[in-house]
Amino acid sequence: MTDAAALPGWTLLYSGKVRDLYTSPEHTGEVLMVASDRVSAFDHVLEPGIPGKGELLTTLSRWWFEQLDVPNHLAATPVTELAEVPAAVAARAMLAKTLDMYPVECVVRGYLSGSGWLEYQQTQSVCGIALPAGLSDGDRLPEPIYTPAWKAPMGEHDENITFERTVELVGAEVASALRDASLDIFTRASAIAESRGIILADTKFEFGADPVTGELTLADEVLTSDSSRFWDAAVYSTGDRTASFDKQIVRNWLKANWDQVGTPPALPQEIVEQTAARYRELIERLTGK
Ligand SMILES: Nc1ncnc2c1ncn2[C@@H]1O[C@H](COP(=O)(O)OP(=O)(O)OP(=O)(O)O)[C@@H](O)[C@H]1O
Ligand SMILES: [Mg+2]
Repeated sequence: MTDAAALPGWTLLYSGKVRDLYTSPEHTGEVLMVASDRVSAFDHVLEPGIPGKGELLTTLSRWWFEQLDVPNHLAATPVTELAEVPAAVAARAMLAKTLDMYPVECVVRGYLSGSGWLEYQQTQSVCGIALPAGLSDGDRLPEPIYTPAWKAPMGEHDENITFERTVELVGAEVASALRDASLDIFTRASAIAESRGIILADTKFEFGADPVTGELTLADEVLTSDSSRFWDAAVYSTGDRTASFDKQIVRNWLKANWDQVGTPPALPQEIVEQTAARYRELIERLTGK
């Protein structure tokens, strides 16, 4: 299921679970990243998609790129100004410089949750970083931690790794730069979110090197609800701490209605609508639009 037919002149390079990447001979050195409405959970793409999701998440990514004063991969010409990309596609697309991507998923956690919480229960550490005893699921960490993952080739599962392993993968200088940039961006983004009553619990960044200048450049999607856990600060302080602005509604429904064997069942309309509403609420709260 791709949008290839809707994009004459563009060649589908790669179709991820959620996004489709295109290239064009008219745009050498650039890649068109189109976010679909597909939603994935437990490594399955679900049916149906969430109407408007691709556009909402693209809007959020663009907004964050504007807020964050760091070199990013957006091409000089915004995709919305390209005559050959239909407006409906442009609304959920970014034209990006093709970078030499580092094979490291730069995860930063300000709170203990998800795979971090699972690992902590076994080892009292996350990705080799020792943590205080007695933490619970959803607790705030004493300070944000950098817990990288190795970006596995297509189809394989990403794997949590230590900082030392990232040094082996990309060299000491780049490994440190990735860590420092990730922690710095996370801290700034958390403050912005917090001022809007939103907790940024954790997120994943991807960086690449600009092929011309070599500059470390923020890539991919950034601080969306597909790459991050956002929580409502008001709800957090009153109890249901894991009520996040992401696919939690979908995950909870699947857990209750599927044994995780074979093809997942189709999502009921009500779950689709609740999820879409949650994405819209996050954007409104963060961007004020
Ligand atoms: N500026 C860029 N230049 C080159 N590649 C990029 C750039 N920004 C992001 N990418 C890569 O584009 C791909 C985006 O695809 P997408 O996130 O949809 O799928 P994926 O992460 O490979 O797999 P999954 O289906 O598990 O999400 C990623 O491999 C990402 O590393
Ligand atoms: Mg991805």
